This record gives sequence, structure tokens and C-alpha cells, in this order.
Amino acid sequence: MTRPSRVFPTDLLRFKKNKKKISMVTAYDVMTAELADQAGIDVLLVGDSCGNVISGHSTTVPVTLDQMIYHTQAVVRGAHRALVIADMPFMSYQESITQARANAGRLLKETGASAVKLEILPHDIETLKAIVDIGIPVMGHIGFTPQTMVQLGGYKVQGKTEESATAMVDLAQKIEAAGAFGLVLEMIPSPLAAQIQSQLTIPTIGIGAGPDCDGQVLVFHDLVGWSARTPKFVKQYATLRQTITEAFETYKNDVETGQFPTSEHEF
Ligand code: KIV
Repeated sequence: MTRPSRVFPTDLLRFKKNKKKISMVTAYDVMTAELADQAGIDVLLVGDSCGNVISGHSTTVPVTLDQMIYHTQAVVRGAHRALVIADMPFMSYQESITQARANAGRLLKETGASAVKLEILPHDIETLKAIVDIGIPVMGHIGFTPQTMVQLGGYKVQGKTEESATAMVDLAQKIEAAGAFGLVLEMIPSPLAAQIQSQLTIPTIGIGAGPDCDGQVLVFHDLVGWSARTPKFVKQYATLRQTITEAFETYKNDVETGQFPTSEHEF
């Protein structure tokens, strides 16, 4: 059987040039990765949002590099075509360039992922360039940056003032100049996202950043309706929470009433 050819970071640049919108979704396990890959999703992001939706933390701050490696290994086993990008968790790259390079290297060597994603503050530009310079593809992430949620004062749309919008455009340009192959824009006004999209050669991937980005990303649990609550920018494409709850309730009832197992389930 011939497998479809893998998506490379350079393909995302081509997609932008050809005006083909890029689909990206988070994944943390092999089965989700398999289904997303078979559906033709271009990019699987092993997001540090695993801290929220898998581990139940209220922020992504506690997520460790070893946890990211564990989830990324599982996703890579299920992805044959999609580009797999692994998030660098909080404090895995902020200490020094040496630390950042070593940890980005671990993420690629120990998992088989093709690229890493970093939430970028102005301080991190040098780090981003240093990782790219040793041959590791990097996707940036600006706007609302969950790892610094407390400093941002909660889940708030970013870039609403003229000053902060100008600073964001400047940061986006520096990220492209430092060698990133793509940029996630999270929770910023649509016109600002459109401006950044039009000024960059690298693709922008939006999450709560409007329709003009070169692609879109959603957290898997939000997309399939598994999360209890979802932000305004989410579109739910399934109602998994309800489906799973109903399955559990029916199973419990079947066990209690002797309707499961029946002869067809016996040896
Ligand atoms: O961790 C994550 O899931 C992310 C996306 C929201 C872009 O960074």
C-alpha cells in the first residue's frame, strides 16, 4: 500500500502561496491522531493544552517536557501524513539558549515529531533563532499566550489597543525574520490578524483570530464537543460529551439489569 506523502513545514509555505487553507487540530494520543490523519488534517499539534484537557489543570504551566514527549510519541505513531508539531512547555526554553536547544532536540529525537512550537514574547526571539539555526523547524505563537495567562490578567483578547496591536505586528515580523515557518495567532481581533497575515510570507494559523488567517487550529476536545465549556471562537462539529455520557449510562444500566453480557459476548 502506498502512503500519502508527509506534510513538511515547507509545504505550509506553499499552501499559503497557493491560497490553500491549512487545517490543524490538537492531538494527544494515537487514536485521535489516526482519525485526524486519515481525515486529511494537515497538521497535528501536540499542544500543552494536554495539561487542561487530559490532566485537568487550570493552566498549562504545570506541563513538563517528559509529558510532552509521552503524548507526542503516541501521536507520531498514529500520524502517517500530517505534520506533527510538539509544544515546548513552560520553562523548557526560557532559561537559556542551551536549555532551549537541548529540549527542542529531545522533543524531536525522542518522539519523531517534525517541529516544535514556542509561545513567543519579545525576549524569546533570540531563542527561536538559535533553535532554527541548528536545523529544528519552529512555529511561533503570539496574541493570547496561555503559558503567561496570569500576567495577561486572564483569558482576554489581545492587541485591542493601537499600541498593543503595533507591538504585535512588530513581534510577528521579528518571528518571521528569526526563521519561524509559521505563526499561531490566538484570540486577537480579526482585522489585526488580517494585517499580520498580509504582511508575512509565513502562514498564520488562527484560533479566535478570524477568517483571514492562512489556516485554523482548534483544541480536539472543543472541536468534537467533549469539553464542558468552550470559548466563543469554537465551532463544535460533534456532540461527544453527550454521546459518551449516554454510552456510560446505558452500559451501567445493562450491567445492573443483566442485559450485558449476553451469549454473543461469551466464550
Ligand atoms: O496548546 C495548544 O493546544 C495550543 C493551541 C491552542 C494553539 O497552543
